[in-house]
Amino acid sequence: MKISITGANSSVGINLLSHLSQKDDVVTIAGVRSESAFASLPQSTSINPAIIAYDDPESLNQALAGADCLIHLAGILIESKHSNYASANVAATAAAVKAAQHCNVRHIIFISVVGASAGSRNAYFRSKGVGEELVLNSGIPATVLRTPILMGPGTAGAKSLISAVSNGQTKVLGGGGYCMRPLDIDDLSQAMAKLACEPARDSHIHELVGPEPITYRDLIKKAGKLMGKEVEVSSVPILMAKLGAAITSTLSQGGITPTVIDVITVDEVVTENANEKIGTSLTPLEDTLRKILASEP
Ligand SMILES: NC(=O)c1ccc[n+]([C@@H]2O[C@H](COP(=O)([O-])OP(=O)(O)OC[C@H]3O[C@@H](n4cnc5c(N)ncnc54)[C@H](OP(=O)(O)O)[C@@H]3O)[C@@H](O)[C@H]2O)c1
Repeated sequence: MKISITGANSSVGINLLSHLSQKDDVVTIAGVRSESAFASLPQSTSINPAIIAYDDPESLNQALAGADCLIHLAGILIESKHSNYASANVAATAAAVKAAQHCNVRHIIFISVVGASAGSRNAYFRSKGVGEELVLNSGIPATVLRTPILMGPGTAGAKSLISAVSNGQTKVLGGGGYCMRPLDIDDLSQAMAKLACEPARDSHIHELVGPEPITYRDLIKKAGKLMGKEVEVSSVPILMAKLGAAITSTLSQGGITPTVIDVITVDEVVTENANEKIGTSLTPLEDTLRKILASEP
């Protein structure tokens, strides 16, 4: 089984590569955009790094040649001077789909987000929704995994949580009253590995979230307790935060924008958790938090 991965240096990619490298019958092509990303990949005889450029179809065709499955991970929430939703979430997906068609790849797995919709008024959710449509209309059996905030060593969610907890006091948007369904990154990797190794005949959209709904405020308190700390959580008014974000993101051409704030503070609600359908287990939230805290230096 040969699996090509784009955005292989992402936090999800690094974790997925480690999982896949433990499978005897799997060879991966780890697609990254730079030499420094190349150097950050886990080392294994079954992992073959490849430098790709999304505006260079030949580089993508080479990375996908002979692949049974493409797992497309490249994508962003926070825009920067160098990367925006149009390039990272839409154009890169279009280019990856085109290469998958060219190379007769038999299955595409696309990591999307809970709330994605091509008709959304939120630019991030819209770009992920457009990405989903590109994959689902590719003519190749596709699995879209809509995921919530991901928790594991190196994820943006875990970094913010640790920084919120470590000082013993923190200010969070709207007091952190929004509901999350944090998913352990190992569970996501297991689900992707399982799906990639099974034959795919049809296309599906799955929502895969963690086992326990929790407000961000309670998540901070829970992580604090595990660290033996009582964390004081106070509130930053969302409207004020959006105003500040609008100014700073315009000046710096990226970073936290009002769009990002809307994404962070929306309730992560799903109709059906796909873990049983996929046949993957979910790590209890407390165990996930213990893993994150143990990985901190
Ligand atoms: N982390 C979460 O909580 C979360 C939640 C829901 C969905 N997701 C989705 O899961 C996937 C992986 O997320 P992550 O948090 O692990 O990502 P990450 O660590 O932030 O890495 C982002 C990846 O996207 C690539 N990228 C950035 N701009 C690009 C562009 N213009 N064209 C092509 N590639 C570009 C980066 O490559 P360079 O290093 O070369 O810039 C990197 O490989 C993404 O699709 C994300 O939307 C993540």
